[in-house]
Amino acid sequence: MLILGVETSCDETAVAVVEDGCKIRSNVILSQIDRHRKFGGVVPELAARCHLEAITPIVEEALREAGVLPQEIKLVAATYGPGLIGGLLVGLSLAKALSLAWKVPFVGVNHVEGHIYANFLAHPDLTPPLICLTVSGGHTNLIYMAEHGDYEVLGETRDDAAGEAFDKVARVLGLGYPGGPPVDRLARQGKAEITLVQQDRLAGTYDFSFSGLKTAVVNLVHRLEQKGETVPTADLAASFQRQVVSTLLERAFRAVEDKKVTTLALSGGVAANSELRERFTQEAARRGVKLYYPPLDLCTDNAAMIAACGYFRWQKQGSSPLDLTVAPRLRLT
Ligand code: KG4
Ligand code: ZN
Repeated sequence: MLILGVETSCDETAVAVVEDGCKIRSNVILSQIDRHRKFGGVVPELAARCHLEAITPIVEEALREAGVLPQEIKLVAATYGPGLIGGLLVGLSLAKALSLAWKVPFVGVNHVEGHIYANFLAHPDLTPPLICLTVSGGHTNLIYMAEHGDYEVLGETRDDAAGEAFDKVARVLGLGYPGGPPVDRLARQGKAEITLVQQDRLAGTYDFSFSGLKTAVVNLVHRLEQKGETVPTADLAASFQRQVVSTLLERAFRAVEDKKVTTLALSGGVAANSELRERFTQEAARRGVKLYYPPLDLCTDNAAMIAACGYFRWQKQGSSPLDLTVAPRLRLT
């Protein structure tokens, strides 16, 4: 069965064709990053306009690349939240229109749940129960997945998402947007020896807070600049990254232990971070935990994960009503 997936919740216009929820036939992603770069972050109104411009040709491209005709698509899945309202409206409206025109069911997908399914796409042997850590520019969630469609959100960020903190730190270090990849690269040349925060005020919980850490970097940079001193950018990048990864690692492996599972999956753009991958791999080996993460192109926003997730949702609950509306603050339950 062929599923068309649509993803427009942030700044990637993405359409994919997936077979039976697990085989990618096409996965077209148009990043708007160059349109937002000069603003130092995603401008919601601009993102919505870019989605509108791009979406129809991208549907055609995804079908062409997959080598399928519209009448072969049997299900249309689209992200309906969480995300930026204007972008969500573009993708959701298009998906509903296609479902009506092609006379096939439509299913709305939670974007965070979609990120989890990137792992099922990449690793067909993966089965719940598992812990999933989803870390991206918009979300930081620690999730216990008992079975398909059954989730318990153990923890989330109380302020900035992990990727958002990377982006803001990169900005103050003059590394451009998006900040994750350049911070990751620069951190390799630095020493993680600067203490930025004294204590973890959420220790013992599963929640995260990255805003204090980010502010510590910003304040330190400003102080040094005011005194005319050199900013040790590589050491700051390394120290910041070490702290973020340590916090994520501690929470994730504690959840694995508490929930008595043996599988941990990572997803979201920050799961592309090289130190994160390295340290999670080492810790998983040390504890005998099976660690999964998707390849880079499935870590960041894409529509293949939405199609895969939509397939499982549809199998479990059937189609969504056509009056389903966008939910910018949608939560996973
Ligand atoms: O999943 P994603 O593409 O979009 C959202 O749903 O937000 O994630 C984008 C985020 C950005 O904040 C970006 O800076 C971060 O992922 N990111 C990274 C790395 N690559 C991307 N963060 C840390 N290290 C990386 N290598
Ligand atoms: Zn995302």
